[in-house]
Amino acid sequence: KAIIPVITIDGPTASGKGTVAQKVAQQLGFHYLDSGALYRLTALSVLRRATPMNDDHALAKVAEHLHCHFDGGHIFLANEDVTQAIRAEEVGNTASKIAAFQTVRQALYGLQLGFRKPPGLVADGRDMGTVIFPTARLKVFLTASVEARAQRRYKQLIDKGFSASMQDLSKDLRERDERDMNRASAPLKPAENAYHLDTSDMTADEAVQKVLGWYAAVGH
Ligand code: CDP
Ligand code: CDP
Repeated sequence: KAIIPVITIDGPTASGKGTVAQKVAQQLGFHYLDSGALYRLTALSVLRRATPMNDDHALAKVAEHLHCHFDGGHIFLANEDVTQAIRAEEVGNTASKIAAFQTVRQALYGLQLGFRKPPGLVADGRDMGTVIFPTARLKVFLTASVEARAQRRYKQLIDKGFSASMQDLSKDLRERDERDMNRASAPLKPAENAYHLDTSDMTADEAVQKVLGWYAAVGH
C-alpha cells in the first residue's frame, strides 16, 4: 500500500499557517485539514450549549459528537454554515481554552487522521507534526513577530466585518501563545525535524514558494 504523503504546517496564531497550507494544498492538488477549525467548531458548540468550561468530560462529549463537514472552503455545523461565526475572537479564545484538555484532543484525534486521503494532505495547526502526523514527509514551523501577527489578524477581522483593536489583539495573541505553548498536552512547539520559516517580512506567496521548494527537495 502506497504511503499517502502529508505536509504539516504548525505555528502560533496568525503566523499564516492557514493561508499558506491552503495554497500549498491547491498547488499540489492535495487535501487540506484546518485542524484549528475543529477546535473552533467544538468551541462554538460549547458556547452555544453553555457547557461548563471546567468539565473536561462534558467538553470531550461535545467534540466527539461534532457533526461538521467541509465543503469548498465552507464549514458546516450540522447544516448551518458557520464559516464566519467560528472566526470570531471569542470562539478562538474559547477554542484555545478547551484545547488544553487531553480529553478534548483525544476526541478529535480520529477525525483528523481521516483527512489523510490520496493523493496527499496538507494539515495546519499546533501539533500536526508533533502528535497527529509524526511521520509526515515535510514538517514546517511558521513564525512571525507579535506585531506582524496582530497586524494580519486586525486586517482579517476588519475585512470580515468584525470590529477589532490592535491593542486587544496583541494582548490576546500573547495570552494565546502563552497558553498554547505551556499546556501539558500537545503544546505548541516545533517538531524536531521541522523546517523553520519566519514570515514577518514575507508575503504569503513567498512563504508558499519556500514550502513547495522544500517539498520538492525532500523527494516524492
Ligand atoms: O487561526 P488561529 O491560529 O488563531 O487559531 P486556530 O488555528 O484556528 O486554532 C484555534 C485554537 O485551537 C488555538 O489557539 C489552539 O489552542 C487550538 N488548536 C490546537 O490546540 N491544536 C491544533 N492542532 C489546532 C488548534
Ligand atoms: O492560520 P493562521 O492563524 O496562522 O493565519 P491565517 O489565518 O492564514 O492568517 C494570516 C493572514 O496574514 C492572512 O490574511 C494572510 O493573507 C496574511 N499573511 C500571511 O498569511 N502570510 C504572510 N507571509 C503575510 C501575510
